Amino acid sequence: MRTTTDARKAAAALADGRLVAVPTETVYGLGGRADLATTVACIYEVKGRPADHPLIVHVIDIEAAWQWASSVPEYARQLAQACWPGPLTIVLPRSARAGDFITGGQATVAVRVPSHPVMRTTLEQLVEITGDPAIGIAAPSANRFGKVSPTTAQHVLEELDDYADPDDLVLDGGPCEVGVESTIVDCTGEQPVLLRPGHVSASDIERITGMTLGTRTQVRAPGMLESHYSPTARVQIVTASDLNQLPAIGGSAGLIALEEVVTPPGVVRLSAPADAEDYARILYSALREADALDLDLVLAVPPSSEGIGSAVLDRLLRAAAGE
Ligand code: TXA
Ligand code: MG
Repeated sequence: MRTTTDARKAAAALADGRLVAVPTETVYGLGGRADLATTVACIYEVKGRPADHPLIVHVIDIEAAWQWASSVPEYARQLAQACWPGPLTIVLPRSARAGDFITGGQATVAVRVPSHPVMRTTLEQLVEITGDPAIGIAAPSANRFGKVSPTTAQHVLEELDDYADPDDLVLDGGPCEVGVESTIVDCTGEQPVLLRPGHVSASDIERITGMTLGTRTQVRAPGMLESHYSPTARVQIVTASDLNQLPAIGGSAGLIALEEVVTPPGVVRLSAPADAEDYARILYSALREADALDLDLVLAVPPSSEGIGSAVLDRLLRAAAGE
């Protein structure tokens, strides 16, 4: 893959049907035109992802997003108004625009209007080149299937350079602000259902819509069920007081915990975030660092589970399930 900082060049490559790893405010995505079946097939191949796992379509604005849907409930409009551009993905009944190759054959489509300025410039350019105001970039996180999502251009290269075409691009937009994937909300029913926690929290959704989150969903969100986001090192979730009475670990261990938590002797401090937002931002690079150091075990003390803390805990639980 070749790295660039030129969003115009990235848009031209996308218009031609090439793959471009794109920066977003959450994590880097492996992008390709959402209207080209052959391009989307390349995304699945490079990622090593099963074909029935649907992709998120990224578009420039709200009107473009609704072009991908056949109907949009009022509460979804409220969420879009309040959170877009930003780290929220909305699942809706699909329109004819969304092919089976995007939705994994489901009758729903996932759409999102990202806020990252470099991604926005890329989308603007792509709209201009193609003349289609609703043109979409399909982009799963730019990691191999089941692995940790990349939050820098360098992490994308570490994940995908061996699998992508040498001419595919990585658009470097700097480190991602949020650090964990977008909140996904199923908006196909009477009330919103949270499918994946993220920076937009459950209480944000209830406040914005004035509705209680539902629990029943017909929507299948593969990738949310199995272990995911897993480094090679084993991940174990612990409390700060567990650290005072650690049994012999019998190998090398690292620690991720808020800065006030003291590192036990013999343990490598991987990261000491100041708060839950900071924890989300550094989590994936800390997990990568554990593998770079060839550690056997990562001990993680989660932040309190309010707001984005619940997204951090969700990802830690999945990483810990990955043994
Ligand atoms: O922050 C993000 O959302 C990043 C950036 C690049 O936008 N993207 C991302 O994509 O995390 P991915 O493919 O790694 O995760 C998308 C999740 C998958 O679990 C998939 O099953 C679910 O969204 N999804 C996609 N389309 C869906 C649909 N139509 N219905 C239900 N779930 C869907
Ligand atoms: Mg992913």
